Amino acid sequence: MDKWANNDQFIVENLIKEDASLRSALEIRIDNELPEMEVSPAQGKFLYLIARIRNAQRILEIGTFCGYSTIWLAKAVPDDGIVISLEHNESCVEIARRSLERSGLSCKAKVIHGDAIELLRSLVEENCEPFDMIFIDADKPNYSKYLELSLKLSKPGTVIYGDNVIRDGELCNPATSDPKVEGVRTFIENMGELGKIESTAIQTVGVKGYDGFTLSVVL
Ligand code: DHB
Ligand code: MG
Repeated sequence: MDKWANNDQFIVENLIKEDASLRSALEIRIDNELPEMEVSPAQGKFLYLIARIRNAQRILEIGTFCGYSTIWLAKAVPDDGIVISLEHNESCVEIARRSLERSGLSCKAKVIHGDAIELLRSLVEENCEPFDMIFIDADKPNYSKYLELSLKLSKPGTVIYGDNVIRDGELCNPATSDPKVEGVRTFIENMGELGKIESTAIQTVGVKGYDGFTLSVVL
């Protein structure tokens, strides 16, 4: 574990160069005594790179938490691009908005307060313009629902990233009764059966321990 964290530290020092806005977003989360649930710096940069490679103009984030990943994604979109981020926890919404304001990125990122399923359904009903990239990082038991609704907000080429799907290696432990593990397992099973997307899942180690993510492209 120390080895994983040390190597992550080396990667951060050499490649990531977290700026003041990202560090400040982390400090606000720590000051508010919230859990260490944001993506790692290396993962934040990875999301940023996917958005840049995809040339994403419109990004949907499901689960803002304190806005750390939102900042990474907002940095990746052009000035006329937008990140729409959904969060049900009111104090997280306030924290994230404050951090985005402080980093000068609020013109490129909009945090919407509410239940993600309801908000996603409204976006579908409003015929919202499809997104280029969707980052699923909210409550794990609802991941399959988020995927289903995300597909309605996608177009061919939309990249969908699902966070925290390996869960300390518990993903395929048949004895688990953890609803988060069951949620991500069903998510991956459904993903494989959908036929509308091509997907993989990658296991990761680092400062956040042993976890992983899915990556998909809409056909
Ligand atoms: C959990 C959620 C996350 O989004 C994360 O990155 C790590 C852990 C959780 O609910 O356990
Ligand atoms: Mg996460």
